[in-house]
Amino acid sequence: MHKAPAAKITVPMTDPNVTIRTPRDPNTLSNYHNFLTTHTVAEFEIDFEKKVLNGGVELTFESLTDAEAKELVLDTSFLDVKDVKLDGKDVEWNLGERIEPYGAPLTVTLDKGVPKGESIKIAVKVSTTDKCTALQWMTPAQTSNKKHPYMFSQCQAIHARSVFPCQDTPDVKSTFEFKLRSPLPVLASGLPTGSHQYEAGKDDKAGTLLYTFEQRVPIPSYLFAVASGDIAAASIGPRSLINTGPEELLECQRELEGEMEPFMKAIHSIVKVPYQWTQYNCLILPPSFPYGGMENPVWTYATPSIISGDKQNIDVIAHELSHSWSGNLVSAGSWEHFWLNEGWTTYLERRIAGYLHGEEHRHFSAIIGWKALEDSIKNYGEDHEYTKLVIDLKGKDPDDAFSSIPYEKGFHALYAFELLLGKDKWDTFIPHYFDTFKFKSLDSYDFKACLIDFFAKDAEAAKKLDEFDWDKLFYTPGFPKKPEFDDTMVKTCYELASKWEARVSKKEASFAPKASDINGWVANQSVVFLERLQAISESFTPKDVQLLGETYGYTTTKNIEVLSRFLTVGLRAKAEETYQPTAELLGRIGRMKFVRPLFRLLEKVDRDLALKTFEKNRDFYHPICRQMVEKDLFGEEKK
Ligand code: BES
Ligand code: ZN
Repeated sequence: MHKAPAAKITVPMTDPNVTIRTPRDPNTLSNYHNFLTTHTVAEFEIDFEKKVLNGGVELTFESLTDAEAKELVLDTSFLDVKDVKLDGKDVEWNLGERIEPYGAPLTVTLDKGVPKGESIKIAVKVSTTDKCTALQWMTPAQTSNKKHPYMFSQCQAIHARSVFPCQDTPDVKSTFEFKLRSPLPVLASGLPTGSHQYEAGKDDKAGTLLYTFEQRVPIPSYLFAVASGDIAAASIGPRSLINTGPEELLECQRELEGEMEPFMKAIHSIVKVPYQWTQYNCLILPPSFPYGGMENPVWTYATPSIISGDKQNIDVIAHELSHSWSGNLVSAGSWEHFWLNEGWTTYLERRIAGYLHGEEHRHFSAIIGWKALEDSIKNYGEDHEYTKLVIDLKGKDPDDAFSSIPYEKGFHALYAFELLLGKDKWDTFIPHYFDTFKFKSLDSYDFKACLIDFFAKDAEAAKKLDEFDWDKLFYTPGFPKKPEFDDTMVKTCYELASKWEARVSKKEASFAPKASDINGWVANQSVVFLERLQAISESFTPKDVQLLGETYGYTTTKNIEVLSRFLTVGLRAKAEETYQPTAELLGRIGRMKFVRPLFRLLEKVDRDLALKTFEKNRDFYHPICRQMVEKDLFGEEKK
């Protein structure tokens, strides 16, 4: 299917040369082509007892059309909207019926249109509800020290609308002020400002402090973030804090101390555009955090599973830091072009690995990524819409399209340009791209135009780009062309896997596994080795699985990347000894990357245990994870 680029339309108004874009994001109900949010003030009390945020937002909008638009439509989802004011005065408003999966449009009716370029302020009083999909509320019993409650948000992709009414699209960027009241420390996606005013609690209720933050760099709604709980802080670099529970603080500090600045130096050498967010801090969340990391500005949110004690999983931080440019500074204008966020970020993350540890490490990461790509493509089917680089999300939920595909196909798109143009030339484009689109959102067609434009005067490069099949790149489902990878890091993993294959498939017992087989390996080499074995795991007897786990310490490893791969081999081999450890892991981590595939595999071999495990841990999981696993286990009907 060929999809036309987002058309520019001419608005019939006094100046015929002024054009605006049609909204290119199909996943918002807002009319952001008429009004544009420029500033957001979010003022909330964090109520741990009721498990709601209570307060309001004040949104400043700039009119984009010359007074034709008399309605302003905002996204909301499961919000309790109490009152709306326009420039401080009462105004007519209506919360419409829910339109799945996008929520209920909040329509504000203006008496008169707003001249182009002029601003209005809309203040909405609002509370979140127990159906909120962005927030997880934890009781003290659900936290590690069991002393205090905890809450955190996860707004990407379209969950900000269940925290506050907004134009919930990455095509709109707003500056933010946060005024958050809580009895416990608060973090938000801005720089902390000012002093905290204390307000005494009523009766036996705890008092609160006001925590204020500001974000002067315009950000899309999905980067709104808040967390509150028993959170302590320590320094891990000249512009970096680590925040986490007091009991976990030292361990986390040890893992990340001194790691940030080398990442910064590496990425600066590639993108050249300076870091815009002043501080780069990291919040390590409770284990139910549904992702590996989330690039919330100023504070990256990360799963505690990256703290493995051996610094072997901190590439997640290199990834989230890279988002400070790709995603946060330069943003995909809709989730259909999500590869511009994740593909670029994966590309930059691997460039950091190359810069710090050598090219073979960049390729090593790409090899691991290729396997993830294979798994995702297999999971959807090779012709599926979501296996394309640019996808059609009209009427769809972006969470359903989430997989390794935008990461890996996106990486391969950019790596292919690196190979096509030559690294030196390509590297001159990278800073130009980030400089051109900083503070803006773009789509794949803008990217294409920018690249072609940049090399227009270079005859050789221009010819190559002219002959390049862009439609194939954007719209072909399934696999991209597989480049040749440097296999320095994986050779020994493949060799050992072959020995195991000979042993289990061909029943050659001559190979006797011993712990020293993996001497000197980094954890990800075990990942590659185990992924090789996954392909032949049906030939494994339960005894083989046991031998594998015990010989190399995989049954007891603290490294979840390794453990989950080992359990995958076990589940595929139908080794019953791995069922319970899988259920146990599913009760102690809520990161979807592990939870979803492990549930799918466990369900195949022991549906009863899978369902029981899900029911047991239902409240432990974040609402997004719960919803996705529900879809995986029960299909769409039980949502
Ligand atoms: N932005 C993503 C996480 C995300 C994507 C949340 C889409 C919600 C919707 C984040 O940067 C990410 O990619 N995290 C990865 C880290 C990995 C690739 C190093 C993850 O969670 O595994
Ligand atoms: Zn990412």
